[in-house]
Amino acid sequence: MEPRSVLPGAWLGLLGGGQLGRMFCMAAQSLGYKVAVLDPADDSPAGSVADRHLRADYLDGRALAELAALCRAATTEFENVPAAALDFLARSARVTPLAASVAIAQDRISEKTFLAGHGFAVAPFAVLRSTDDARGVDAALVPGIVKSARFGYDGKGQVRVATPSDVVAAFSAMRGQPCVLERFVTLACEVSVIVARNERGETTTWPVAENRHRDGILDVSIVPARVDAGVAARARDIACAVAEALDYRGVLCVEMFVAADGALLVNEIAPRPHNSGHYTIDACVTSQFEQQARVLADLPLGDPSQHTPAVMLNLLGDVWFDAGASAPREPDWRAVLAHPRAKLHLYGKAEPRPARKMGHVTCLGERLDDALATARAIKAALRIPDDLP
Ligand SMILES: Nc1ncnc2c1ncn2[C@@H]1O[C@H](COP(=O)(O)OP(=O)(O)O)[C@@H](O)[C@H]1O
Ligand SMILES: [Mg+2]
Repeated sequence: MEPRSVLPGAWLGLLGGGQLGRMFCMAAQSLGYKVAVLDPADDSPAGSVADRHLRADYLDGRALAELAALCRAATTEFENVPAAALDFLARSARVTPLAASVAIAQDRISEKTFLAGHGFAVAPFAVLRSTDDARGVDAALVPGIVKSARFGYDGKGQVRVATPSDVVAAFSAMRGQPCVLERFVTLACEVSVIVARNERGETTTWPVAENRHRDGILDVSIVPARVDAGVAARARDIACAVAEALDYRGVLCVEMFVAADGALLVNEIAPRPHNSGHYTIDACVTSQFEQQARVLADLPLGDPSQHTPAVMLNLLGDVWFDAGASAPREPDWRAVLAHPRAKLHLYGKAEPRPARKMGHVTCLGERLDDALATARAIKAALRIPDDLP
């Protein structure tokens, strides 16, 4: 049967108004689509570039009905979007990803249970639903990290624990929210693979990204990752297998730990484009956002090949503040753009706050070392701490 594509000129719907949605809007508009964004904020990164912004809660019946009437296909940029909103839209429109995939990724307990149940290696973990669970944990799981099952991101909702009694204290500090305890893994590095899969099971993956975090937040992605070819190939295979196990439709990020012996453990999955894939806009034939639109519209998948080595540097709100200052000032964008192969992306957020993702810079280079040198120079100019190896 011929696929029933939603062709350029039509409306696409998007749940969520953040920067991932903004970059999706821009890519979809570039292909000739109109985009309607449902997001409760007055002024959001995606709402301000969308062709229409429905300002309402994700479960607002009227707004969902309006979106359903306008759009033949809809997606999300926000993994905590209520599954009920996706299910409602799926009654009349093509929806990617499926609500079931989003529901698994929204909850660390279902995510880890799903991954382990399908044979993927994960860090040893235990589920904590009660104080008794916390009291009874296997001592082999510490030192570790207690993570809230829901609504954690950028290291939020996580507590490091060194002893079994720390686990009890950390669980009670989470005020009874279900959690997982994960054993602390000694990492050689962290990598991610972004995979796109359509409803016919065709998949593409981008090259492996090497991710470096600062204070639990992604600082830099280096692509291609400086890992053995065998590790990179296995990482891409794992990402495809996770997408297959989920019968996934859309763009999915699989974050992995590389252990000292080269073993790969799946850390977490994100049912959407990912911060570690922002470099694809400038360094690949097809970006993760264009691919998201292609899968959503059921168009042929684009070529994910990387044409230029890249280092993506996140710009957090911290960059707007001089040491000790309480009022922000505009960063020196001329110093960034003085590097002709640095591509600046700002998300249009009105208020810079420390740790808030405000934008990113993708540094391109003839060789990866050239891109790394540009990233170091930009970090120095913006006074971002630099431990780039
Ligand atoms: N079990 C672990 N062992 C070692 N480091 C970990 C472990 N779990 C998390 N981390 C570190 O914390 C970061 C954030 O944890 P993650 O589970 O990915 O949560 P988030 O949703 O905040 O990204 C990881 O990228 C990694 O650097
Ligand atoms: Mg993470």
